[in-house]
Amino acid sequence: MPMPLERTDKEVCLTRRDFLRGCALAGVGAALPAVGDTDAAPAPDAAQPPAINPDLCAVVSDLHIGKPWSEQKFRTDRSYDYINGTVARLVKDILAMRFRPACVFALGDVSLCFGEERDYALAEELLRPLEDAGIKLVMTAGNHDRRIPMKAVLGKWLGESPVKGRFTSVTRLPKFDMILLDSLKEPNPENEDNSAGRGGCELGAEQTGWLKDFLENTDRPALVCAHHTAWSLGINKDMVKSPRVCGFLHGHNHSWQDNILFSSYGRKTMIRMLGLPSMGMDRDVGFGVLRAFPDRLEMAKIERDYYFPVKTPPQERLPLWDAIVAERHGQRVSFPFEKLAS
Ligand SMILES: [Fe+2]
Repeated sequence: MPMPLERTDKEVCLTRRDFLRGCALAGVGAALPAVGDTDAAPAPDAAQPPAINPDLCAVVSDLHIGKPWSEQKFRTDRSYDYINGTVARLVKDILAMRFRPACVFALGDVSLCFGEERDYALAEELLRPLEDAGIKLVMTAGNHDRRIPMKAVLGKWLGESPVKGRFTSVTRLPKFDMILLDSLKEPNPENEDNSAGRGGCELGAEQTGWLKDFLENTDRPALVCAHHTAWSLGINKDMVKSPRVCGFLHGHNHSWQDNILFSSYGRKTMIRMLGLPSMGMDRDVGFGVLRAFPDRLEMAKIERDYYFPVKTPPQERLPLWDAIVAERHGQRVSFPFEKLAS
């Protein structure tokens, strides 16, 4: 007899009880109402590490890991020295899930700002506990990354790219393919002002051609991801029209953003495009937990905090921030594999 959906959901995702326990253990600033603990699943055996569920993934973005701000090349009046600690806390949260994800996907902006090699060395240190737990890590680049230092330090988490010079990957999971595109357009330091550390966004002709060819020849559901939105990459209509693409995930905006992409009124086809929070920097702080079912994917939003523009002493926290955390945490969005009306 199939297990009831509600029970299955609760088993595989962070529950409100897990969340509150995590907040208490980690000292997360947001005060949450102690309501809704309806989880009936048995507590995990503390003597045994949680088992890995092959149908579970975590998706993180915009980690912005780096050395103290005071040591950065271009300093502002903001201090981001809390970020590394936030990333470390969220790594612990992933490891403390009732069932651990088989994969963690990172959608770029691993570096704090300038894509320095020392940022990636620190990222390797902070994320290694996931690898040590048997979780597969797969990354791509964001506009604050630089490919040469990133590959030099984190090459083991980039995989074999089918596109030369890009951090593109296809991860074959039991029920779908996870496609990570590399949307970084690196600035030319000789011609462009690099003081802000920002690159631009583009897929390039070779990667766009590879994606088109892959999607035309696959019969498996595909979830396509990049650091930037499908709109800014100019592939939103292609994603909608492709029969196997069930959704699009992106980072960059540091916000939970639930959008619908559609091609035209005539086609009656659409997909969901979901923006991920920052893992450690500002605005929505958290990650997504993705579970595969036979007919769809579901993403649960794990909202850990809300910072704007940087972490603030508790007495200065706005009531709205805590409301945002409480309202967004645990929301679920779905990505049906079948895109057409029956
Ligand atoms: Fe970012």
